[in-house]
Amino acid sequence: MSGAAEICYFLAAPLFILALRWMSSPETARRAVMSAVAAMALAIGGTLLQPEIQTYTWIGIAVLAGLIVGVPLSRVPLTAVPERTGLSQAFGGLAAALVGVAKYYMWLGEGSLTHFKMGVIGGEVILGCLTCTGGLLAAGKLAEMIPTRPITYKGQNIVSFLGLGLALALAGVLVYDPTQSWAFPFIIALGLIFGVLLILPIGGADMPTVISFLNSYAGLSAVALGFVLENKLLIVAGALDGSSGFVLSIIMCKAMNRSVTNVLFGAFGSVAAAKALGEKKTAKSATANDAAQLLSAASTVVIIPGYGMAVAQAQHRVRDLYELLTKKGVDVKFAVHPVAGRMPGHMNVLLAEAEIPYDKLVEMDDINPEMPQVDVCLVIGANDVVNPAARTDETSPIFGMPIIDADKSHTVLAIKRSMNPGFAGIDNELYYADNTLMLFGDAKAVIGDVVKELSGESAH
Ligand code: TAP
Repeated sequence: MSGAAEICYFLAAPLFILALRWMSSPETARRAVMSAVAAMALAIGGTLLQPEIQTYTWIGIAVLAGLIVGVPLSRVPLTAVPERTGLSQAFGGLAAALVGVAKYYMWLGEGSLTHFKMGVIGGEVILGCLTCTGGLLAAGKLAEMIPTRPITYKGQNIVSFLGLGLALALAGVLVYDPTQSWAFPFIIALGLIFGVLLILPIGGADMPTVISFLNSYAGLSAVALGFVLENKLLIVAGALDGSSGFVLSIIMCKAMNRSVTNVLFGAFGSVAAAKALGEKKTAKSATANDAAQLLSAASTVVIIPGYGMAVAQAQHRVRDLYELLTKKGVDVKFAVHPVAGRMPGHMNVLLAEAEIPYDKLVEMDDINPEMPQVDVCLVIGANDVVNPAARTDETSPIFGMPIIDADKSHTVLAIKRSMNPGFAGIDNELYYADNTLMLFGDAKAVIGDVVKELSGESAH
């Protein structure tokens, strides 16, 4: 490797590590992105400086193809980022698997396949293939192009693991004798099939966690790729990707009060098909004027944003509301649930975009003890994350998931367009509670009306 390439890699590795460190707080997140971009630029620059590269033609074609696919992918709305991430992982896995396949046949032809090289190629190809089909299926489920419900059958886990076991056994055969090339296509096929079998039994509600797990598999396949290509930076970056994906998965499992095995094998969401409440209940609706009066009379208001705020792009109106109420001396806080919206940090990103001060964002565990003293809870397009069934109904598919205790506040104002359920497909008692008033309509329009009422009132 050239000295310049070594220096680029040497600088890129700590920048990747710092990017992850800085990503853990909204204040430093922008710096994290800049650091990761710089690290990636150094990594690519360093790689292009490798003396082994004799022509840039194929690299140029690959860059062009990547741009054609990547630019439209980068323009998806924020709500579609989880499925876009699934697609990126699928492509990442496919790339790793293809390099593994190419290297296998190249080294086989040269007669230079050692046991070690074969071992890492086997790991890379299996992980890359399962990440590819798993990522595609997860993206399809999140985009609701294929049914989001878990698809299960008897003995599923046994079949899946027999498939994986067989792939590993065949990889073992190849490590023992790399010239047994008949086994190689079977490893590819079994890896691809295992990715499908892994995702089929998992319900839509668990997809965010699964995407995060796939991230960690993609990272591991990148580590193997790093060994195959003898590229130290790829090993470092892959290890960071693999471990951070795994840590994020654990954090998300904790946020939903689920065990990792339960997420991966529990077929969560199988009972999520819209479960109606036993008896017919009616919800009370209110007008923007009622809401404005309640909000301005309150001394503490907690705003709980959810997926509906993202769909309506209501965050800027929410900022107007926050400013008006704060000017009136109301103490306004934002309660952010770890899985509100459709991706980790979804609400934080939207609220930061609207320049809500970071110190007004409170995490679920910190806000819940305060809830019984809160005058008004304003739920904006959130549903599952405030559903009391998670605490009270053992038969509910979300039972055990920690929620924000909106129902414990004095008054709840809930904005949504209808009585339709949220992501988990289940009804929500909160909307029928005595202390809840519904504000029906698109979140952006409703908050706009409340803001108008409040500013009209303040002009008096
Ligand atoms: P949801 O439970 O999905 O509820 C969102 C609510 O927003 C719906 O009930 C919908 O009701 C309302 N809504 C939609 N568009 C709206 C609009 N334009 N204006 C006003 N309201 C609107 O959302 P949540 O409470 O944020 O919970 C998140 C759920 O998604 C959890 O089940 C979580 O597990 C899952 N999930 C999370 C992630 C991550 S990592 N955050 C990723 C994937 C899935 P109407 O149709 O009646 O308006």
